[in-house]
Amino acid sequence: MTNIILLGPPGAGKGTQARRISERHGLVQLSTGDMLRAAVAAGTEVGLRAKEVMERGELVSDEIVIGIISERIDAPDCEKGFILDGFPRTLAQADALDRLLAAKSKWLDGVIEIRVDDEALVARIAGRFTCAKCGEGYNDTFKRPKVDGVCDKCGGTEFSRRADDNEETLRARLLAYYKETAPLIGYYYAKGLLHSVDGMADIDAVSAEVERVLGTLAGVSG
Ligand code: AP5
Ligand code: MG
Ligand code: ZN
Repeated sequence: MTNIILLGPPGAGKGTQARRISERHGLVQLSTGDMLRAAVAAGTEVGLRAKEVMERGELVSDEIVIGIISERIDAPDCEKGFILDGFPRTLAQADALDRLLAAKSKWLDGVIEIRVDDEALVARIAGRFTCAKCGEGYNDTFKRPKVDGVCDKCGGTEFSRRADDNEETLRARLLAYYKETAPLIGYYYAKGLLHSVDGMADIDAVSAEVERVLGTLAGVSG
């Protein structure tokens, strides 16, 4: 069992790399952003509370996301290990995660920080779109489907763009990242769990670097 965190600013490539790790190693991708968007789409109580906060690019309350993760980690598919994508995002969430894992006799094997320059994030976010059927991520500039308008993975022909993927909201998301989330880099460094990869390289090169790090962690099988 291997449990890891992917850490990085909006658009760094957390979701992209999490999907690849999941396909390669069978670890489950736990994206609080995806879970919250699903809750918004389903119109649940959590979704109603999160919708406007997310559209402003601010962070949803610790209480909500800790609740979501705590419940999700108990599901049987997490036994094989999980990739936290977009959680924790505040020191309070990191502390809560420590307590939560200890109580469930689970642990963290490593934290992979994906480093990307701020200017590159704008282009990545502005060009992002996703297959509506299977969730595969694409980019107008960096990763177009092989056949225009058709998903490489599932053949789907419908794609969606996120409501918060505009330049104005991105500024707010970046601010939230530097204010609330960036301190986690030092936090996990001090715990001896931090591994940083160069996220400026192309997607395959970043994957290779992530694989190299995973190879150094206990419990990950090829
Ligand atoms: P969330 O969904 O987590 O958004 P985010 O952190 O802003 O990150 P993104 O999903 O935008 O980026 P990513 O790193 O996954 O990049 P991707 O792989 O898609 O959160 C959304 C909102 O939900 C938050 O703002 C907040 O309101 C709320 N929320 C979620 N979790 C929360 C929490 N724990 N606490 C409180 N609130 C929470 O890649 C981006 C694009 O770049 C894609 O088009 C991709 O194809 C392309 N790309 C990827 N890698 C490369 C590369 N190496 N080179 C070129 N292009 C690349
Ligand atoms: Mg993401
Ligand atoms: Zn698809």
